[in-house]
Amino acid sequence: MAEYPGLGEVSGKRVLVRSDLNVPLEGDAGAKVITDDGRIRASVPTIRALAEAGARVVVTAHLGRPKGAPDAEFSLEPVAARLGELLGAPVAFAGDTVGTSATETVAGLEDGAVAVLENVRFNPGETSKDDAERGEFADRLAALADAFVSDGFGVVHRKQASVYDVAQRLPHAMGGLVAAEVDVLRRLTVDPERPYVVVLGGSKVSDKLGVIDNLLEKADKLLIGGGMVFTFLAAQGHGVGSSLLEEDQIPTCRDYLARAAASSVEIVLPSDIVVADSFGDEASARVVAADAIPETTLGLDIGPASGATFAAALSDARTVFWNGPMGVFEVAAFAEGTRAVAEALTHVEGLSVVGGGDSAAAVRTLGFDEAAFGHISTGGGASLEYLEGRELPGITVLEAN
Ligand code: 3PG
Repeated sequence: MAEYPGLGEVSGKRVLVRSDLNVPLEGDAGAKVITDDGRIRASVPTIRALAEAGARVVVTAHLGRPKGAPDAEFSLEPVAARLGELLGAPVAFAGDTVGTSATETVAGLEDGAVAVLENVRFNPGETSKDDAERGEFADRLAALADAFVSDGFGVVHRKQASVYDVAQRLPHAMGGLVAAEVDVLRRLTVDPERPYVVVLGGSKVSDKLGVIDNLLEKADKLLIGGGMVFTFLAAQGHGVGSSLLEEDQIPTCRDYLARAAASSVEIVLPSDIVVADSFGDEASARVVAADAIPETTLGLDIGPASGATFAAALSDARTVFWNGPMGVFEVAAFAEGTRAVAEALTHVEGLSVVGGGDSAAAVRTLGFDEAAFGHISTGGGASLEYLEGRELPGITVLEAN
């Protein structure tokens, strides 16, 4: 096959692919180690399909949030190397975004070969709020290619040059990954099979306000854990010690609890919490009742009784969306709540969706088989914004042009 869906014949053409290769890395610049390559693996099928169709594939992507200038700390070079390993083929790497190295690297590509451009956020035009500045950078990106494939689902909620503006400048298509992600999210929003249970965690309730608001109309049960739960516990009038707390969100959480009580949606909060005397102090970890968190401690995970309650609430679910870990899962003493939720999701008969970012990393870090979940999204913020019912610029631009 020399065609790519939506683009037609691509053999011999330069195809710019926007992937989301924003993966966690550890170590010093120049010796970085990728700690979870899930997003790179998820990007491979589209890149491979284009290469096999004879395209000259030019991948553009970001890593982290550099400040619009080259910064070795955020280089995509180790990511390009990992992509080459996964593709089983050499991947050329351009040391800049649209400069001499990018131009020469693209010019040197043969049919079916792949290149990765340096972190697209090294150029201030990528994330600029000024349409003209973004457009100017998009012109230069577009000049490197004959067609564009949008496959970075994790960034489709960003109106950025390589996501949005470039699609206005080149013949374009939605990549297979974005298409698959949108298809699953549509199933969560349009007539989901019931019971529909949503599990939310992660550190900040302020990141989840829109989605909670929306789900209070749609889900049957909302299970809440992670750092954000302490603002809910405070809204119920409980002390939370020195746990994470967003005081300014207490009234909002109180309102959510009242709305849930007045509707058919059930908000389930943990009944017990794993606390410790300080963040790094695993030795002092112990379980306390959620309404009796000692003042001198902080909560770092939901407790075992809550894990069991959450698992039971998930056992008859036909549709599940989970975003955000239940505790500090990177530390063994605070990983059990997240493990209990992940385990319960593997038994769901119906659609189970792990929504991106930290929860996707948690599933892999805790050693679960990814195949046991219906879908592991590559987009944290993007999937939340979709579920909030917001327009995603990177999707609408593909449909509008
Ligand atoms: C993500 O990690 O959610 C995506 O790669 C988007 O990154 P951003 O939040 O820095 O735009």
